[in-house]
Amino acid sequence: MSTLDTAPPTGAARSAGSAAWLTSTDAQRAAALALPQDVRDFLEGGSGAEATLAANRAAFEDLFLVPRVLADASATSTAATVLGAPAAMPAGIAPMAYQRLFHPDGEPAAARAAQAAGIPYVAGMLSTCPLEEITAVCSQTWLQLYWLRDRALLTDLVDRAEAAGCSALVLAVDVPRMGRRLRDMRNAFALPRDIVAANFPPSETHSARRGAAGTSAVMVHTSEAFDPTLSWDDVAWLRGRTELRLVIKGVLHPEDAARAVELGADAVVVSNHGGRQLDGAVPAPSVLPAVCDAVAGRGEVLLDGGVRSGTDVLKALALGASAVLVGRPVLWGLAADGQRGVERVLSLLRTELEDALVLSGCTDVTRASGLDVVPRGIPLSPAALRKGPRW
Ligand SMILES: Cc1cc2nc3c(=O)[nH]c(=O)nc-3n(C[C@H](O)[C@H](O)[C@H](O)COP(=O)(O)O)c2cc1C
Repeated sequence: MSTLDTAPPTGAARSAGSAAWLTSTDAQRAAALALPQDVRDFLEGGSGAEATLAANRAAFEDLFLVPRVLADASATSTAATVLGAPAAMPAGIAPMAYQRLFHPDGEPAAARAAQAAGIPYVAGMLSTCPLEEITAVCSQTWLQLYWLRDRALLTDLVDRAEAAGCSALVLAVDVPRMGRRLRDMRNAFALPRDIVAANFPPSETHSARRGAAGTSAVMVHTSEAFDPTLSWDDVAWLRGRTELRLVIKGVLHPEDAARAVELGADAVVVSNHGGRQLDGAVPAPSVLPAVCDAVAGRGEVLLDGGVRSGTDVLKALALGASAVLVGRPVLWGLAADGQRGVERVLSLLRTELEDALVLSGCTDVTRASGLDVVPRGIPLSPAALRKGPRW
């Protein structure tokens, strides 16, 4: 990401919107050309010194798979089960706010692309169209919630999610307040007049549009709207309030993950919010095996943060995840080419995953959990290669 921030667009970058995208970075380049600088910063940025943002990528780059051979990979499938439902690959689209900032077609375009790709779409509570416009185009919609001071608005959204046919609620627990996103503060980032948080009454989001030097209006709005008292009692309350599947997003400690499933959560998302909350928080792949141990099959364990390729998906599966959520690459596709751009990003991810499965001797995604994955550069003892299933 950092090279893109400084490098002037090259000829290759300028034509990246129309040329084939061979990696998600091609989509990132195309998006960079399509977006104003402050929106691009909102998309790309993390909190503080962006150490966690960078560590998310480094964590994947520093892990290496130990492929298996002679496994007859002639008929390899990426099909998976995500939160109990069939999916074309072990992935979903992560909740991301304000998608009309990136393309006029916004959330419905990304949700249609998820539907076409056969994976779930997690609608952000802070979407720029009403939830029902998303569920109308995507049969596997999950709704992400932040804990609102306005409890009536929160429960109304839970009721709407049930009525609209959502398959899950995703409670984001890592935002008692918004992290200090310095790029947005420097840009005095504020929502343009035509971008609304459509699930909120208009009066509730005025502050998100009021720019002021040295601060982010979006951050001001969240501090007004989000309730920092959120605790385990509220998770228990929400569990009792809805029959929908419940996913707790934003855990990193194994004990928190275990407590979430003990309270009846169906899944956790191991996530540091794409490096946008606690700067210095650990990257998700580093804690994933410990979280999976603690959850011990009592719920699904998803991961997000830094997933950029099918190989990253395979590494996450090898570390024990059941699926990943894809974040920024979806917004790159959306910004560059609307629904088609998101479809291109998701199709690329699936192609790469299929390729990685074939080349690592896995005929399907369930085999991936048996792959060994090791850190860079350490001579391995026989005990380090311990997982291999006998097939
Ligand atoms: C522009 C943007 C907006 C986001 N908005 C939300 C949100 O409203 N709710 C939420 O739970 N997570 C939000 N996230 C975090 C994502 O769900 C996800 O955790 C993160 O993007 C994963 O990191 P990656 O994008 O680097 O893969 C947002 C992320 C980005 C980049």
